[in-house]
Amino acid sequence: MRKNNQEIINGISLKAPAKINLFLEVLGKRNDGYHELETVMQEIDLVDSLEFEEIDEGIKLECENSSIPLNENNLVYKAAELVLRECGIKKGVAIRLEKRIPVGAGLGGGSSDAAATLKALNSLWGIGLNDVELMELAAKIGSDVAFFIKGKTSLCRGRGEKVYPVEVKSKLNYLVVFPHVEISTKSIYGNLKIDLTKNRKDVSVFAKAVENSDVAEIGKLLFNRLEETIFSLYPDLLQTKNLLERFGFCGLLVSGSGSAIYGLCSNRNQAEMIRNQIELRGMGKVFVAANTIIPQTTR
Ligand code: C5P
Repeated sequence: MRKNNQEIINGISLKAPAKINLFLEVLGKRNDGYHELETVMQEIDLVDSLEFEEIDEGIKLECENSSIPLNENNLVYKAAELVLRECGIKKGVAIRLEKRIPVGAGLGGGSSDAAATLKALNSLWGIGLNDVELMELAAKIGSDVAFFIKGKTSLCRGRGEKVYPVEVKSKLNYLVVFPHVEISTKSIYGNLKIDLTKNRKDVSVFAKAVENSDVAEIGKLLFNRLEETIFSLYPDLLQTKNLLERFGFCGLLVSGSGSAIYGLCSNRNQAEMIRNQIELRGMGKVFVAANTIIPQTTR
């Protein structure tokens, strides 16, 4: 991305934030094989970084992390291909991806990278798509991608692609633990047993607590219908969650289809103190995070 060690001039750099699911209820299985969801997702300030530079043709993806695919199996590549095809662009793009968000963690890293790619290319090539149009493209890439077009905090319905923003007044602090286990979302939904007689959790009660920024109430109401399936397939994660219970979080939950587990903290100091203790015990990779809005930079 650098020519003769000089900063590129005609490029864009963006941060792609992770998400956590504060609430996730499964309403049923659909005819298309997906599951109908009600989920509240929130962006956090754990981010990947991406740089985009126009080239004559093709898509060149670079990433220092060797376990990341650099072809159409990467959602960034898929997003760039989609823009080229659907918008009839006769140019190419070189993309440099710096990964910090753990993969297979339920933190939406790949989806967020894809959303950042849609936004960056829309701007790089002056395509002029609005957010609704970007979200339509996003939904073609994956269920979580549309959420990241506007980001912040949203109630998402359908497969996850119908996004309704929720206003959050104050900062929420988290400790996110990645227990070095990679989970495939497909495998969790594939093993999910939907019991319609079980009490369905009411998202509106949860959304109210989020709108009021009532940390104690949010902590009590954190919910993920997928947890039972995740723990039945990965019993070690249940053990990790049980160990984490001892640290006195306001609430503790697996994000999305796992494997990351996050604790809601009363403030940043508490998050930092607990981080040190967890790191000493070697329970996984630990991140202190908050729902800060990340300024997006263009150069
Ligand atoms: O949409 P995405 O490709 O991210 O989804 C990955 C897999 O997760 C899907 O193939 C599907 O098996 C499952 N899934 C689901 N219901 C959803 C979202 C995802 O069953 N709402």
